[in-house]
Amino acid sequence: MAEIIRIEHVSKVFVTGSEQISILVDVQLSIEEGTVVVITGESGSGKSTLLNITGGLESASGGTIRVAGYRVNTLDEFELSTYRAHSLGLVFQFHYLLKDFTALENVMLPAYMAGTARREALEHARVLLAAVGLEHRGEHYPSQLSGGERQRVAVARALVNDPDVVLADEPTGNLDERNSALVQQILFDVVRTRAKTLLLVTHDATLAAHADRHLVLAHGVLQPQ
Ligand SMILES: Nc1ncnc2c1ncn2[C@@H]1O[C@H](COP(=O)(O)OP(=O)(O)O)[C@@H](O)[C@H]1O
Ligand SMILES: [Mg+2]
Repeated sequence: MAEIIRIEHVSKVFVTGSEQISILVDVQLSIEEGTVVVITGESGSGKSTLLNITGGLESASGGTIRVAGYRVNTLDEFELSTYRAHSLGLVFQFHYLLKDFTALENVMLPAYMAGTARREALEHARVLLAAVGLEHRGEHYPSQLSGGERQRVAVARALVNDPDVVLADEPTGNLDERNSALVQQILFDVVRTRAKTLLLVTHDATLAAHADRHLVLAHGVLQPQ
């Protein structure tokens, strides 16, 4: 199996006033294509920081990050947007769906913006909405959906550009237990069916139960659970 994510000696220092806080000290991570990896850690341990660095949303203080052939920490703005549009799917705790667009439009928009023809984007969005069990909700607006359904739309949207890697930050953190279990199952099913690589960070250790690998972030380093 080919390695799709390689993180070497990544560090992150936040400077606030005269204070320097070392959040990531020396993070090492190698992930093979098609693997589902869950990273847990206490609140404030740096999980979101690590995920944002991997997704090119935040810069590292040191080290190298390679994802799907991109050297993420050396990309310029244009290359970064290409990387995000074509190789990454992102799911966050809050869905960030556009309220004036239907579920179907929300899912197809990233494809349309990446240059896919409208009809093809629509077709792909329909398939993905069905994959998350919402084929009958395509014409509904986010305000007409439950929290769990909105998050399922966000999962479908993350996959619309057929990314190699899906990054998820507390994707079920805003849901009750039942919806949390359902969204988790759908997310894992969808990425496994499509042989995507999933890197999910959460404080909720129950999400690690169905992962291929479970790592723990503590004191700025990653260790196997
Ligand atoms: N921009 C920032 N400036 C200063 N400190 C930050 C910044 N972003 C995050 N932090 C701090 O870094 C630590 C890790 O944050 P975060 O990665 O969000 O942790 P987690 O996702 O594990 O809860 C926290 O203590 C947080 O307050
Ligand atoms: Mg976080």
